[in-house]
Amino acid sequence: MPDAVHVGSGKVRELYALDDERLLLVASDRISTFDVVLPTEVPDKGRVLTGLSGFWFTRTRSIAPNHLLGLREDGRSTECRRLEMLPIECVVRGYLSGSGWRDYSATGAVCGHELPAGLVESTRLPEPIFTPATKAQSGHDENITGAQAAELVGAELYAEAERVCLELYRFAREYAAARGIVIADTKFELGLDGEGRLVLADEALTPDSSRFWPADEYTPGGPQPSFDKQFVRDFCEATGWDKTYPGPELPEEVVNGTRARYVEAFERLTGIAFDDYLADPEVVLR
Ligand SMILES: Nc1ncnc2c1ncn2[C@@H]1O[C@H](COP(=O)(O)OP(=O)(O)O)[C@@H](O)[C@H]1O
Ligand SMILES: [Mg+2]
Repeated sequence: MPDAVHVGSGKVRELYALDDERLLLVASDRISTFDVVLPTEVPDKGRVLTGLSGFWFTRTRSIAPNHLLGLREDGRSTECRRLEMLPIECVVRGYLSGSGWRDYSATGAVCGHELPAGLVESTRLPEPIFTPATKAQSGHDENITGAQAAELVGAELYAEAERVCLELYRFAREYAAARGIVIADTKFELGLDGEGRLVLADEALTPDSSRFWPADEYTPGGPQPSFDKQFVRDFCEATGWDKTYPGPELPEEVVNGTRARYVEAFERLTGIAFDDYLADPEVVLR
């Protein structure tokens, strides 16, 4: 890519600088489970994440400005504004799952939010809660209280981030629920532009940044199947893998089943045929 300088690699994305103000985020087909990137890729997964993010960015502009400048023809490359990223992960939880469930079970609270006693795993919370986490350079992000997060970014910015993220989540969850997908929780990344405005960045409301559950199977009282990664998780668990690097190779039927689920999530949420996205990624931006 002659017009771009490689500036970094995340678990899923390659980052290139186009100039001082613009980045190119290229979403690979890498898949991680239990926080370990697996040796096998899931074809088109990066396109699903890119297309879904573009779709949500276009539909949430009135809630928050975002970093999107354009999608490239390959369907996996996002041109975006380069921001100064906040040093926190902005997590919103509408249901009690994952580390939220673990923290609640141990302490009755999640990130400083005291919750009613006796809630079961995967309960829908009375109101969504903002539960920030640190951005771990390696290993697991760690949940922190609002007070700790406010210390990291400043009280005013923290309050604004909380307000914006809760509104984004409420909008998306309602939208997805009508299409058979529960967005149990989600992680946003926010940054500041040159004028100090808070801007939504990274990927947004994708299966990788969120817990998507099939709505028709939702049964509180235990863990829920993942809409997208359940085949991978089941396969990995069955191998007896210890969940440390390196992970197992995925067999073809697991890859195909997982690709189909990612594509299904895309089509259900956007109402757009995935083939139409492949032909012209800008269909998600209209
Ligand atoms: N507009 C932006 N400006 C600067 N950095 C960004 C922007 N959008 C996303 N990023 C960063 O790009 C990286 C995306 O790569 P990814 O593979 O998702 O990383 P990770 O393994 O941290 O999830 C993240 O570090 C994210 O914070
Ligand atoms: Mg990421």
